[in-house]
Amino acid sequence: VALEFISDLSGLKPEDMDGFFEGWPVPPSSERRLAALKGSDVCILAVDGGRVVGFATALVDGALMAYLPLLEVLPEWHGRGIGSELVRRVLAALEGTYSVALCCDEELAGFYARLGFASVEGLVRIDRSPLP
Ligand SMILES: CC(C)(COP(=O)(O)OP(=O)(O)OC[C@H]1O[C@@H](n2cnc3c(N)ncnc32)[C@H](O)[C@@H]1OP(=O)(O)O)[C@@H](O)C(=O)NCCC(=O)NCCS
Repeated sequence: VALEFISDLSGLKPEDMDGFFEGWPVPPSSERRLAALKGSDVCILAVDGGRVVGFATALVDGALMAYLPLLEVLPEWHGRGIGSELVRRVLAALEGTYSVALCCDEELAGFYARLGFASVEGLVRIDRSPLP
């Protein structure tokens, strides 16, 4: 079955989020994960035979700036170009945006550099209390 990239989230269910958000210290509930995708201005899903195997999201101000909060591909689908394609498709949806920012672990800087991102100094504030 061919891999599809879709932006229609209407059929997405909380259980489609199972297997994602690996390694989060306080993993959000499936409902909260789904809310994050549905609340994003841009969300692209990678779907393989009806199964969601990856997604990428963007928040935008509609004039200058965008932020990419989430990118994840299920481990069994890593290394097949899906993550890169998700980022390329989100960037295509953001065409004309001045700045597209994201936060990532240092080891992923090379992955994003190939997609045109450069490292800058940044600050982030994380609330580590349990999510409701
Ligand atoms: C990052 C991620 C989305 C990449 O998805 P993917 O579909 O495997 O990506 P692609 O197949 O397009 O690209 C894989 C390339 O990225 C590199 N890469 C992926 N994850 C990496 C990591 N953690 N550290 C270093 N390189 C990494 C691979 O080495 C590979 O390089 P190669 O093509 O030279 O072999 C995926 O590893 C993932 O979901 N990771 C967990 C969640 C995460 O870290 N998300 C990013 C948050 S900012």
